[in-house]
Amino acid sequence: MTTHALGLIGSATDGLENIRTSLIEPAIARGWRVAVTLTPTAGTWLEDTGELARIEDATGLPCRVAPRMPRETSPHPPIDCFLVCPASANTVAKLALGLADNQALTTVCEAIGTQGVPIVVFPRINAAHARQPAWDAHISALERAGVHLLTGDEYWPLHEPRGAPAGKDLPWTRILDTLEEVSG
Ligand SMILES: Cc1cc2nc3c(=O)[nH]c(=O)nc-3n(C[C@H](O)[C@H](O)[C@H](O)COP(=O)(O)O)c2cc1C
Repeated sequence: MTTHALGLIGSATDGLENIRTSLIEPAIARGWRVAVTLTPTAGTWLEDTGELARIEDATGLPCRVAPRMPRETSPHPPIDCFLVCPASANTVAKLALGLADNQALTTVCEAIGTQGVPIVVFPRINAAHARQPAWDAHISALERAGVHLLTGDEYWPLHEPRGAPAGKDLPWTRILDTLEEVSG
């Protein structure tokens, strides 16, 4: 089996705490090599719980949070497919606008302009985020750029803030299946 490299970008939302057990380890079991990059806030959250070190153990690669020094080379391999999951409303908005003010956004913004690398984004948002006046334009811009957006009731029915049923989890298996579909 050929191993493909998955660039996983995580941002600071509920569900981030489960990415190792629910996304990274299952992806590795499906044959992916996983290289993780986190937004600064996501990095502090996972550092705080010790998950960041456990992710590095599981992937065998450093978790990128801060940008590299100009004298350093990238610690991650070339990536075959990117997944932004969980994607906060903030990270989706910045991505749509091309703002690259952290390592996670720098990586995906460049990938959007690179031909032949599929990008999948799972916005882990609530109904209030989706009513923000710029939201629809952000989603349209990303769709026009060819980004695979996992939105709608089949992936993530929207609830009001703090109105989600207890224990509501991300559709991890569907997300993993989508990676295989888009990356051929
Ligand atoms: C406990 C907690 C849970 C959060 N959950 C979400 C969420 O599910 N979705 C979301 O878009 N933002 C959520 N936020 C807000 C984001 O963390 C915040 O907008 C942050 O600036 C996102 O930064 P990032 O996109 O750089 O990771 C949450 C914040 C906290 C403190």
